[in-house]
Amino acid sequence: MRIVFVGPPGAGKGTQSARLVSRLDVPHLSTGDLLRAAVNEQSPLGKMADEYMSAGRLVPDHLILKLIGERVLRDDCADGYLLDGFPRTLVQAQAFDDVLAEVGESIDAVIELVVRHEVLVKRLAKRGRSDDTPEVVSKRLRGYEEQTRVVTGYYQDRGIVFRIDGEGTPDEVTARIERAVAEASGGRLRRPN
Ligand code: AP5
Ligand code: MG
Repeated sequence: MRIVFVGPPGAGKGTQSARLVSRLDVPHLSTGDLLRAAVNEQSPLGKMADEYMSAGRLVPDHLILKLIGERVLRDDCADGYLLDGFPRTLVQAQAFDDVLAEVGESIDAVIELVVRHEVLVKRLAKRGRSDDTPEVVSKRLRGYEEQTRVVTGYYQDRGIVFRIDGEGTPDEVTARIERAVAEASGGRLRRPN
């Protein structure tokens, strides 16, 4: 299955993706993690991405599309993947659809994690990643409202968007997501061992 996780900073995309990939046995593709690795390696992409990320701004679409376009062509993605933090703009969503259409594929499910603003702010303050300072967090949250919220609307007509309450314990959220994925997959989700 090809699944997309959408949600504001701190919604739990990374936490929940990590849990779901072990059930689905597909790779977890987090553009944020891929970019942070590129920044650590000081690769050309990392050098370009760094200034955007530390300012809480989205990295330009063409860089992200190249990154993810190459990644999904690798062998381990043949049976699907879980996208965490991509697509994040309408341009990314449309361009990625074109990439998939060329090989006769499409997104199977979009999981939107919904969490109140004040809960997001508290979670991120507690975590302390380098882009979790109050100033950068507020820019990331604003960026979500301005550029990413529309992404779920893009997929809405296809009936593949699942709005999930992302509050409560991680286990509670996982249970809600697993129900949605089971529905989207027509029961193909493996049962826990
Ligand atoms: P990215 O790494 O994707 O960051 P983000 O979207 O801001 O989201 P976070 O990773 O902060 O939150 P999350 O939803 O994964 O939550 P998590 O599980 O960690 O992107 C970083 C930057 O890269 C962007 O700002 C941008 O510059 C760039 N970028 C990435 N993708 C891009 C793209 N497609 N286009 C352009 N630019 C891009 O949880 C957060 C915290 O809450 C953790 O401490 C966790 O333990 C805790 N938590 C999780 N769930 C719960 C729960 N149920 N209860 C209590 N605590 C919880
Ligand atoms: Mg994350």
